[in-house]
Amino acid sequence: MIDKFERRVLIITGSVAMLFIFSILYAKNSRRIDVPECLPYNKSYEEPKVVKLDSNLYQVYAVAQMWQFQPAEIQVPVGSTVDFFLTSKDVVHGFEMYEKNVNMMAVYGGVNKTTVKFDRPGVYKITCHEYCGIGHQNMQSEVIVNYPSSK
Ligand code: CUA
Repeated sequence: MIDKFERRVLIITGSVAMLFIFSILYAKNSRRIDVPECLPYNKSYEEPKVVKLDSNLYQVYAVAQMWQFQPAEIQVPVGSTVDFFLTSKDVVHGFEMYEKNVNMMAVYGGVNKTTVKFDRPGVYKITCHEYCGIGHQNMQSEVIVNYPSSK
Protein backbone atom coordinates (compact mmCIF):
# COMPACT_ATOMS: atom_id res chain seq x y z
CA MET A 1 0.00 0.00 0.00
CA ILE A 2 1.50 3.35 -1.10
CA ASP A 3 0.95 6.15 1.35
CA LYS A 4 -0.10 9.66 0.43
CA PHE A 5 3.37 11.23 0.54
CA GLU A 6 4.97 8.46 -1.38
CA ARG A 7 2.39 8.84 -4.12
CA ARG A 8 2.97 12.59 -4.23
CA VAL A 9 6.74 12.09 -4.60
CA LEU A 10 6.18 9.57 -7.37
CA ILE A 11 3.88 11.93 -9.24
CA ILE A 12 6.25 14.88 -8.92
CA THR A 13 9.41 13.00 -9.93
CA GLY A 14 7.51 11.29 -12.73
CA SER A 15 6.29 14.63 -14.05
CA VAL A 16 9.76 16.16 -13.91
CA ALA A 17 11.21 13.19 -15.77
CA MET A 18 8.48 13.43 -18.43
CA LEU A 19 9.10 17.16 -18.81
CA PHE A 20 12.82 16.53 -19.22
CA ILE A 21 12.31 13.89 -21.92
CA PHE A 22 9.70 16.03 -23.64
CA SER A 23 12.09 19.02 -23.68
CA ILE A 24 14.81 17.01 -25.38
CA LEU A 25 12.41 15.64 -27.98
CA TYR A 26 11.03 19.13 -28.53
CA ALA A 27 14.53 20.55 -29.03
CA LYS A 28 15.46 17.76 -31.41
CA ASN A 29 12.27 17.64 -33.51
CA SER A 30 10.43 20.94 -33.40
CA ARG A 31 13.25 23.40 -32.89
CA ARG A 32 15.61 21.39 -35.13
CA ILE A 33 18.36 21.74 -32.55
CA ASP A 34 21.00 19.10 -33.05
CA VAL A 35 21.20 17.17 -29.80
CA PRO A 36 24.59 15.44 -29.48
CA GLU A 37 24.34 11.68 -29.70
CA CYS A 38 26.20 9.14 -27.59
CA LEU A 39 27.41 6.16 -29.58
CA PRO A 40 28.74 2.76 -28.54
CA TYR A 41 32.44 3.23 -27.94
CA ASN A 42 35.35 1.43 -29.49
CA LYS A 43 39.08 2.08 -29.70
CA SER A 44 38.99 3.20 -33.33
CA TYR A 45 37.63 6.57 -32.20
CA GLU A 46 41.01 7.32 -30.63
CA GLU A 47 42.58 7.49 -34.10
CA PRO A 48 42.26 11.08 -35.36
CA LYS A 49 41.31 11.30 -39.03
CA VAL A 50 39.24 13.02 -41.66
CA VAL A 51 37.28 10.67 -43.90
CA LYS A 52 35.85 11.86 -47.19
CA LEU A 53 32.65 9.93 -47.92
CA ASP A 54 31.57 12.03 -50.87
CA SER A 55 32.47 15.36 -52.50
CA ASN A 56 30.62 17.23 -49.76
CA LEU A 57 30.21 14.61 -47.03
CA TYR A 58 32.92 14.17 -44.44
CA GLN A 59 33.56 12.43 -41.14
CA VAL A 60 35.99 13.87 -38.62
CA TYR A 61 37.32 11.67 -35.85
CA ALA A 62 38.37 14.34 -33.36
CA VAL A 63 40.58 13.39 -30.43
CA ALA A 64 41.15 15.67 -27.46
CA GLN A 65 44.11 15.26 -25.13
CA MET A 66 46.16 17.57 -22.94
CA TRP A 67 46.41 20.10 -24.57
CA GLN A 68 45.52 19.78 -28.16
CA PHE A 69 42.90 18.60 -30.59
CA GLN A 70 43.72 16.27 -33.43
CA PRO A 71 43.38 16.84 -36.30
CA ALA A 72 44.54 20.39 -35.50
CA GLU A 73 43.32 21.62 -38.85
CA ILE A 74 40.45 20.30 -40.90
CA GLN A 75 39.82 21.44 -44.48
CA VAL A 76 36.53 20.94 -46.27
CA PRO A 77 34.91 22.62 -49.28
CA VAL A 78 31.96 25.00 -48.99
CA GLY A 79 28.65 23.19 -48.75
CA SER A 80 30.08 20.24 -46.83
CA THR A 81 28.23 18.32 -44.20
CA VAL A 82 30.58 17.04 -41.53
CA ASP A 83 29.92 14.41 -38.87
CA PHE A 84 32.16 14.97 -35.86
CA PHE A 85 32.96 11.99 -33.65
CA LEU A 86 34.61 13.22 -30.49
CA THR A 87 36.51 11.45 -27.75
CA SER A 88 39.29 12.15 -25.25
CA LYS A 89 42.51 10.32 -24.48
CA ASP A 90 42.73 11.58 -20.91
CA VAL A 91 40.58 13.99 -18.92
CA VAL A 92 37.30 15.64 -19.85
CA HIS A 93 37.69 18.36 -22.46
CA GLY A 94 35.24 20.72 -24.09
CA PHE A 95 34.60 21.10 -27.80
CA GLU A 96 32.96 24.36 -28.74
CA MET A 97 32.47 25.85 -32.17
CA TYR A 98 30.79 29.12 -31.40
CA GLU A 99 29.68 30.11 -34.91
CA LYS A 100 27.95 26.78 -35.39
CA ASN A 101 26.39 26.48 -31.96
CA VAL A 102 28.35 23.29 -31.27
CA ASN A 103 28.95 22.47 -27.63
CA MET A 104 30.14 18.98 -26.75
CA MET A 105 32.18 17.20 -24.13
CA ALA A 106 35.11 14.95 -24.98
CA VAL A 107 35.09 12.09 -22.51
CA TYR A 108 37.60 9.26 -22.14
CA GLY A 109 35.99 5.95 -23.07
CA GLY A 110 33.01 7.63 -24.69
CA VAL A 111 32.19 9.16 -28.03
CA ASN A 112 29.87 12.04 -28.88
CA LYS A 113 28.64 12.87 -32.32
CA THR A 114 27.23 15.94 -33.96
CA THR A 115 26.67 17.00 -37.55
CA VAL A 116 27.50 20.44 -38.94
CA LYS A 117 26.82 21.91 -42.35
CA PHE A 118 29.29 24.53 -43.60
CA ASP A 119 27.51 26.79 -46.09
CA ARG A 120 29.96 29.66 -46.00
CA PRO A 121 33.71 29.90 -46.44
CA GLY A 122 35.72 30.85 -43.40
CA VAL A 123 37.79 29.67 -40.49
CA TYR A 124 35.74 28.08 -37.73
CA LYS A 125 37.61 27.90 -34.43
CA ILE A 126 37.15 24.97 -32.11
CA THR A 127 38.07 25.68 -28.51
CA CYS A 128 38.21 23.67 -25.32
CA HIS A 129 35.74 25.22 -22.91
CA GLU A 130 36.20 22.80 -20.04
CA TYR A 131 39.13 23.55 -17.74
CA CYS A 132 41.60 20.70 -18.21
CA GLY A 133 44.88 21.89 -16.75
CA ILE A 134 47.73 24.26 -17.34
CA GLY A 135 47.54 24.28 -21.14
CA HIS A 136 43.78 24.63 -21.32
CA GLN A 137 43.67 28.16 -22.76
CA ASN A 138 45.83 27.14 -25.73
CA MET A 139 43.77 24.14 -26.65
CA GLN A 140 42.11 24.74 -29.99
CA SER A 141 41.84 23.68 -33.59
CA GLU A 142 40.03 24.93 -36.64
CA VAL A 143 37.89 23.97 -39.58
CA ILE A 144 38.87 25.80 -42.77
CA VAL A 145 36.07 26.01 -45.30
CA ASN A 146 37.12 27.01 -48.81
CA TYR A 147 35.70 27.15 -52.27
CA PRO A 148 37.05 24.18 -54.20
CA SER A 149 39.89 25.15 -56.53
CA SER A 150 38.56 25.36 -60.08
CA LYS A 151 40.81 22.98 -61.95
CU1 CUA B 1 41.08 20.74 -22.87
CU2 CUA B 1 40.45 22.63 -21.60
